[in-house]
Amino acid sequence: MYKSKHILPLVIIGVIVAALTAAQALLIDWLPPATSEQAGRTFTLLWFLFWASAIFFVIVTSVIIYSVWKFRAPKGDLGDGPPIHGNTKLEVVWTTVPSIILVVVAIYGYIVLERNEAVAANAMTVDVYAQQFAWSYGYPDAGIQTGVLVVPQGRQVELHVRARDVIHDFWVPQFGIKGDAVPGIDHVLWINPTTLGTYPVVCAELCGVGHSVMRSKVEVVTPAAFEAWLAKGKAAVADGTAQADAAATAANAPGDAVAGKTIFEAKCGGCHAGLGTEAGGVGPQLKGRPLTLESVKTQITNGKGMMPGGIVSGTDMADVAAYVMSIN
Ligand code: CUA
Repeated sequence: MYKSKHILPLVIIGVIVAALTAAQALLIDWLPPATSEQAGRTFTLLWFLFWASAIFFVIVTSVIIYSVWKFRAPKGDLGDGPPIHGNTKLEVVWTTVPSIILVVVAIYGYIVLERNEAVAANAMTVDVYAQQFAWSYGYPDAGIQTGVLVVPQGRQVELHVRARDVIHDFWVPQFGIKGDAVPGIDHVLWINPTTLGTYPVVCAELCGVGHSVMRSKVEVVTPAAFEAWLAKGKAAVADGTAQADAAATAANAPGDAVAGKTIFEAKCGGCHAGLGTEAGGVGPQLKGRPLTLESVKTQITNGKGMMPGGIVSGTDMADVAAYVMSIN
């Protein structure tokens, strides 16, 4: 029989440690809302792991705190402690219990992975391209390219993540998925979006000076809205030549520097900080450079160095070019 005088103080310490641990878990928003089937499963697994760990953390920490206080050496006692040999019963328990937990976690984790990567018959393919420092998306069935990832609610999307230069990492926190974009490798990820909304796409792998601004958006829309969006994209491609001509005409029209400032801040400000009047760490300072309206438009169209081409086009490009010339 263990000495019962230890029970009460141990329980009191245990309650305090448990309350502090639970407060950490419950008072902080650790995870974003789950907006895909995958995120729901992954986040539940994560909380299972957390609470399983928390139980043992509370037990072990409480016993340590109590023992350090209760069995400390009396003042002036420099002798050794009493010689104790192992306790077989305890050793069997602390080997068996973690083994069982490990097996349970392995099986649970396997089930989650298996379900998260189960390919649906009607899965839709989308190509994801990463490059310093922008994301772009291709819809091979529709033959269109976009700067925003648009996906339908309730249908599985198979993402083929690829890199055009260095290693990046495609991450949508709300979807609970993350996958490296590695040059030469087609990394496949699956999502089943459940909740309508707009969520951030984040680069989660240090990929150069513009890493922190390498962000994009994913929009989850209703299946009907998605079909309409696809049809519009296809029509624009079919109408490509006419569109390109119209865009070229618009780009050559005199731009509006005031409108250009707003567009510049949204599209270019991430790299050319300080509205182009100072170096942003990524893109150079634009003020006082030997630029002409033509050279600005050429650089916007073709890109230069780390700057991807085609960030703005048509009227927007004419406005941005006018703005750049106004500060230059
Ligand atoms: Cu791309 Cu970090």
